[in-house]
Amino acid sequence: MKVGQSWRMTILCLAFVCPLLGLFAVSLAATDKKAKPSVSIVSRFDKAKPDDYLDEGMCKDCHEYSHKSWHNSPHALFQSDPKKPLGQGGCQSCHGPAAEHVSHLKPDAQPFEHIISFTRLKPDETAAVCMRCHNDTMTRRHWEGTSHARAGVTCTACHQLHWPAP
Ligand code: HEC
Ligand code: HEC
Ligand code: HEC
Ligand code: HEC
Repeated sequence: MKVGQSWRMTILCLAFVCPLLGLFAVSLAATDKKAKPSVSIVSRFDKAKPDDYLDEGMCKDCHEYSHKSWHNSPHALFQSDPKKPLGQGGCQSCHGPAAEHVSHLKPDAQPFEHIISFTRLKPDETAAVCMRCHNDTMTRRHWEGTSHARAGVTCTACHQLHWPAP
């Protein structure tokens, strides 16, 4: 290879490689800036269409005690406005869209697969559901950095959402 040729090769290589390296750096920066991927349980709310929510009265028919104990909680004061869309108020704002829950109640079906059951969630899943609404004072990233979150303590260890009747 002559000297002139190898120079040409070098320039050619740089012409291809530099923009690629640039792109790589930009994409790295972008991934770093991007918020952590959302905990997948929250995507139930994002994906839900209006028909995926049930009329609230149906929950009462089958879960009378829980219905009563939730309406007895201070949270219900803020959350039971019937004008709120169903993903934002009432039972399904925490337990998720429940139409599939009710259509999968056959004896052989997995009854907890289509409903958000807090007694069965991982701590970070619970926090993610609560922080759909409570990320005004604390972001999820901040919460995850606290010693509570790192010790696996979640919101429901301290906050009771259903209050037994007096
Ligand atoms: C036709 C009856 C029926 C209706 C309507 C119904 N559920 Fe259920 N639900 C069940 C059954 C049965 C189970 C599984 C066994 C159990 O925990 O009672 C269940 C389980 C649950 C659980 C998990 C309970 C646990 O032990 O962890 C939650 C939460 C729940 N339902 C919420 C709701 C909400 C909110 C609604 C209304 C949007 C609703 N359900 C409507 C019958 C029903
Ligand atoms: C603000 C969030 C929130 C709302 C709204 C809510 N729940 Fe719950 N629910 C919870 C949590 C958290 C638990 C787990 C027990 C606890 O911490 O009180 C639970 C537990 C339950 C359970 C299972 C019992 C158990 O101990 O696992 C049922 C059934 C239930 N809720 C039904 C309902 C119904 C019906 C409504 C509406 C009338 C409702 N919930 C509204 C958060 C909520
Ligand atoms: C769909 C929205 C929504 C969800 C989901 C939600 N909250 Fe709330 N919550 C509110 C609103 C609105 C208020 C009243 C204003 C405020 O304090 O931000 C409130 C108030 C509260 C309060 C103060 C009143 C009280 O009950 O003592 C606590 C504590 C609380 N929420 C905890 C939780 C926890 C824990 C979860 C998850 C299990 C949760 N919330 C899920 C909307 C929500
Ligand atoms: C180690 C216990 C503990 C944990 C875990 C915890 N909290 Fe709290 N939280 C408290 C205490 C204590 C207060 C202040 C006293 C009060 O207002 O009830 C508070 C206050 C709040 C308030 C404001 C209440 C008001 O009156 O304005 C909200 C909303 C809330 N917490 C939501 C959450 C959410 C969401 C999580 C999970 C991401 C969480 N908390 C985790 C103990 C805890």
